[in-house]
Amino acid sequence: MFQRNSVIVFVLWLCTVLLTGVAHATVDREKLLSEPGVYGTFAVFQVHEDWWKLDQASRRVAAAEIKGVIQKHGERVAIDTYLLRGLTEKADFFVRVHSTELMSNQHFLVDLMGTTLGTYLKNTVTFNGIAKKANYVPGFPADLQTALKTPPDPGPKPYAIVIPIRKDADWWLLDQAARTTLMQEHAAATVPYLKTVKRKLYHATGLDDVDFITYFETATPADFNNLVIGLERTRENRHNKRFGNPTILGTIRPLDEILDILTR
Ligand code: HEM
Repeated sequence: MFQRNSVIVFVLWLCTVLLTGVAHATVDREKLLSEPGVYGTFAVFQVHEDWWKLDQASRRVAAAEIKGVIQKHGERVAIDTYLLRGLTEKADFFVRVHSTELMSNQHFLVDLMGTTLGTYLKNTVTFNGIAKKANYVPGFPADLQTALKTPPDPGPKPYAIVIPIRKDADWWLLDQAARTTLMQEHAAATVPYLKTVKRKLYHATGLDDVDFITYFETATPADFNNLVIGLERTRENRHNKRFGNPTILGTIRPLDEILDILTR
């Protein structure tokens, strides 16, 4: 009898361990953010003024619901959250979602919009893109390739900037060698900023109305301002048909902090 009870207890314990393990399995974020072939979706949201008319208790219950949705999708998508409120009148926060299946990004966002808070959200803009291997870097001189490997300074880089870009038809009609020359100029202009500006490039041609979604993190917005001025003075910039519009500037914040701001 004692033996049978022990077996039952053991089986129950094993089930708990396995189920808890499954429930907490999360996607390998570092891998998703560094590999080619991964889809990135940027979704920007504005909170409707009626949200603030709800009492605090209701807003807190609604905020807890969001955490459940994040947990549910954590196995397939990596989710980063950003606060925009205060830095723009156009939106309050945005999420950047990565996964190997674009549809997984969609599933998460549909569930997010289906929550109580979601019904108070206006999705002001969304961008989709895919990370790819470098097109031009292998054709750059060795010293520039080495310089581009300079790691960003350690430490927090709380500001995030997203700039969608569309190239003109002339750009795509240039041959690979001509584009490489212009991109070499582009890359050379960025060298002074490698330590203070971290970047990630998404290709969006055919998936969105833009060709690229560029994403940056920095602790010094002043550096980013100078970097873009430097890039605007390169010949490659002549081929930028659309630059920004919108330019999205926010701060990287954990979800809890954003929910706290929305439930104060
Ligand atoms: C530290 C800052 C930056 C560095 C180190 C950097 C470096 C590079 C490099 C090496 C490439 C070529 C990638 C390849 O071989 O495919 C590239 C592409 C690109 N960069 Fe930058 N960049 C920086 C900032 C910017 C900024 C501020 C913008 C505009 C907002 C920008 C827009 C682009 C675009 C649109 C491409 C893709 C061009 C194409 O494939 O046709 N970059 N960047």
